[in-house]
Amino acid sequence: MRPADRVRAAAARLASAGDLPAYVHDLPGLRGHAAAVRAAMAGAAEVFYAVKANPAAEILRALRPFVDGFEVASGGELAHVRGLLPEARVAFSGPGKTGAELALALELGVERLHVESPTELARLIATGARADVLLRANPDLPGEGTRQAVSSPFGMDPDGLDACVRLLRDAPRIRPRGIHTHLTWAREDARAMAGLAGRVTAWALPWLRAHLPQIAEPELDLGGGMGVDYADPRALFDWNAYGAALSGLGGQARLRIEPGRSLTAYHGWYVTDVLDIKRNHGRHYAVLRGGTHHLRTPVARGHDQPFTVLSHAAAGPALTGAVTLVGQLCTPKDVLNRHAEVAGLRVGDLVAFGLAGAYAWNLSHHDFLMHPEPSFHYLDEPQASSEPSPGR
Ligand SMILES: Cc1ncc(COP(=O)(O)O)c(C=O)c1O
Repeated sequence: MRPADRVRAAAARLASAGDLPAYVHDLPGLRGHAAAVRAAMAGAAEVFYAVKANPAAEILRALRPFVDGFEVASGGELAHVRGLLPEARVAFSGPGKTGAELALALELGVERLHVESPTELARLIATGARADVLLRANPDLPGEGTRQAVSSPFGMDPDGLDACVRLLRDAPRIRPRGIHTHLTWAREDARAMAGLAGRVTAWALPWLRAHLPQIAEPELDLGGGMGVDYADPRALFDWNAYGAALSGLGGQARLRIEPGRSLTAYHGWYVTDVLDIKRNHGRHYAVLRGGTHHLRTPVARGHDQPFTVLSHAAAGPALTGAVTLVGQLCTPKDVLNRHAEVAGLRVGDLVAFGLAGAYAWNLSHHDFLMHPEPSFHYLDEPQASSEPSPGR
């Protein structure tokens, strides 16, 4: 995905103002993408945005009209979302919920609590409060599409689920509503995702009928994990195919999905400039202002972050060929792109890393080496306002 003109213009302004590195978010682009996802999922599944991907207030507000709700994974995310969007529907997931987090969930009101273990359910029951829960399942579903290890800290195997069923017998205030799963991540192939959804449904619905027959209208939350292809940013997840496949499962259960990365990655850019170009033992390195303490995504996932050179410096030696793009940290792991090919790269060039709208700043170790933080910019169309502007 190429930066929109407004992103290029903002980057140029920030460079002239010496305000780099900077995160630049394209909110009209984000809204357009979220609207397309919503249209593809209409009638097939509810869409809850996984806040962990990018919790910035501007992003949550921009997404609000295009999602059915928000999935949070900590008391911090819950309080943040409630503070910004008091009326939003919220589901609360995540392992190791503390007593204080459960109390906060009950106080602030979450629509669904995703129970991760029998211990967590017992902790919830002990509060004596009413709650609507999904049991997070980690069934062993053979076949294509599953990426989560069968054994993991997340969710429950059939033994854990059975233990929950026993606890629920003596817990009239806790209303089970269905099953939650999140069994894959970064799955670019909508067909494989749809196949997995089919297998989850084929397992979960008979399980619910057998173990929790009191649930009249079962719910299945299929989690997130729709992929973003960092090697080929133009290869978008096929939302229409996924929506059509989930529609085919419809009628059997109320479906919900929780995409994070695939909603916000595409419309965030990390913009910076080249500080140094050097050759070291036969390899070229371009040292950029900032680095993986701002954008840890390529290190966390082990990929090359895609980038565009937005403008070239007017003078100086130019490098054409292979180069490794690194940041300013004193660690060889501070690599943003290991396999870059450039044409005429110079010190002072302006560079924008794409797909930086998800698991980027909020995933990064900001304080290492005490470099300055980036600035943040949320580009938007001018809003019509009935308020008189100052000085009029
Ligand atoms: C329970 C749950 N739901 C949704 C997500 C969002 O996943 P993604 O950003 O890959 O769509 C995650 C990610 O870790 C998760 O753990």
